[in-house]
Amino acid sequence: MEIEDIEESQGFTTTTVALITSLSGERVNVMSAEWTIRVSIDPFLISVLVGYQRETYKLISESREFGISYCSADQGELAHIAGNYSLKDTDKFKMGGFQTFNAKYIKAPLIRGCISNFECKVMDEFKMGDHAAFVGEVLNGYYDDEKSPLVFHRGKFFKLGDRIGHK
Ligand SMILES: Cc1cc2nc3c(=O)[nH]c(=O)nc-3n(C[C@H](O)[C@H](O)[C@H](O)COP(=O)(O)O)c2cc1C
Repeated sequence: MEIEDIEESQGFTTTTVALITSLSGERVNVMSAEWTIRVSIDPFLISVLVGYQRETYKLISESREFGISYCSADQGELAHIAGNYSLKDTDKFKMGGFQTFNAKYIKAPLIRGCISNFECKVMDEFKMGDHAAFVGEVLNGYYDDEKSPLVFHRGKFFKLGDRIGHK
């Protein structure tokens, strides 16, 4: 039965979680983001929505680039740490023991153990209500076909369920 409630209904969407990496000067950061989406095939563009008050917002604004590492199902703890602590207060890389590798075309590192990673250069930025939409031109991508994605639903992490349908 449909329950009419605009506030509660916001929790009833399903996403995955990406670890957004950014670097400016001496400062390097990782932040969880459920709001990322591929917005163009050719050119390959991915958009990420970042709250204006995030340290990540400052670092991406300064450097005009970012990394996106989509979490695998065994990275719930990392998604929790990157999404509940801020660079203002703590070094999340140390706290979560994040393993990283160097990107080829951007300065920010990428996170190991993810299902996919992308190197992005900011090609546009829009104000979307209380978040900034950075549109990233994807310069390079990586994937691991032995991993499965982390699923985020109603504020909790899950694994992908059984395959269904006709395809
Ligand atoms: C699962 C999860 C998903 C999140 N998704 C987003 C998002 O899409 N955009 C955003 O701005 N913040 C999102 N957040 C909140 C930020 O990750 C959080 O405010 C973080 O502490 C910001 O870190 P920073 O200040 O070091 O950049 C999410 C948090 C969690 C736990």
